[in-house]
Amino acid sequence: MTEPLPIVLDVDTGVDDACALLLAALHPDVDLRAVTCVGGNAGVDDVVRNTLKVLDVVGRPDVPVARGAGRPLIEPARDARHVHGEDGMADLGWPSSERHPDPRHAVELLRGLLSRAATGEPADRITLVPLAPLTNIALLLRTYPEAAAGLREIVFMGGGTEIGNATASAEFNVWHDPEAAAIVLESAAELDIPVVMYGLDVFYDVRVSREQSAELTAVGGRGPAELAGRLVDFQSRRLGQPDATIGDAGAVCAVIDRAGLTTVRLPVRVELAGTFSRGRTIVDRRDWSGDLAHDPHGIAPTSVEVAMSVDAGRYAELWLRTVNGGTR
Ligand code: BDR
Ligand code: CA
Repeated sequence: MTEPLPIVLDVDTGVDDACALLLAALHPDVDLRAVTCVGGNAGVDDVVRNTLKVLDVVGRPDVPVARGAGRPLIEPARDARHVHGEDGMADLGWPSSERHPDPRHAVELLRGLLSRAATGEPADRITLVPLAPLTNIALLLRTYPEAAAGLREIVFMGGGTEIGNATASAEFNVWHDPEAAAIVLESAAELDIPVVMYGLDVFYDVRVSREQSAELTAVGGRGPAELAGRLVDFQSRRLGQPDATIGDAGAVCAVIDRAGLTTVRLPVRVELAGTFSRGRTIVDRRDWSGDLAHDPHGIAPTSVEVAMSVDAGRYAELWLRTVNGGTR
């Protein structure tokens, strides 16, 4: 039996971050060491509240939760309550946790965990899974670049090769703090951190039907299955669709079951200017073995494993099974 993989989630909980937290907290193949919070879908205080609530539901008071950046590096925060509800997590009216967050700033908590991991065995290296604007991670890698030695890889939800959601060009997490995303990609090249981009090309593919969510909700007892069912139900009703994506949870599926994801290693940059394209991930799909010397920008310094397709049924099944109490 292999040891569970140590992971840390960075979240802006968020309906689909909650779906991801349920999976990461419950699946035996991963060891959720901490959760760090950043402003995004909701203000950072609501994100902390929502995150603690989910961890209470799954009975994981052992997982430290730290508050991080409340706003992007340059621009003001712009939440997505119109998507996630007034409280940022489907307005379920479930009780708040009585637990307090870790007193450290998210960046300090990450630094501590990663520094320890760096001095351990290679198996102790941490997989960092940002599911939110990359503000905390940019601050970490700029302030404490040596912490990168404790990382196995970064698997982030963000960007896309073809489509946007926050704008026609840009995906929400990258659009919310493009400078942070650019810093993280640049740091990955400098510090030799492997990166997987779980973007919009696959994000919407992994779906759960209203019938499946009703079965989860019917389990009741305000446990993980009921929460999972209510989250999917909220999204499918909001959009008037017969099903809904498990969203950020797909990136956690990619950590647990990489074989379900098809990736291509490609150079990626973030558009920081642009009238209509700020926050877009520019994924370069050209063949650089040919003559591209005319391109004044040159090849992007960072190559990323970009998710191009997903075995959606396999990931949906993994999620359903786990949140409903069976993991094999
Ligand atoms: C992202 O937007 C947010 O709503 C989700 O939490 C996810 O991280 C997808 O763009
Ligand atoms: Ca998110």
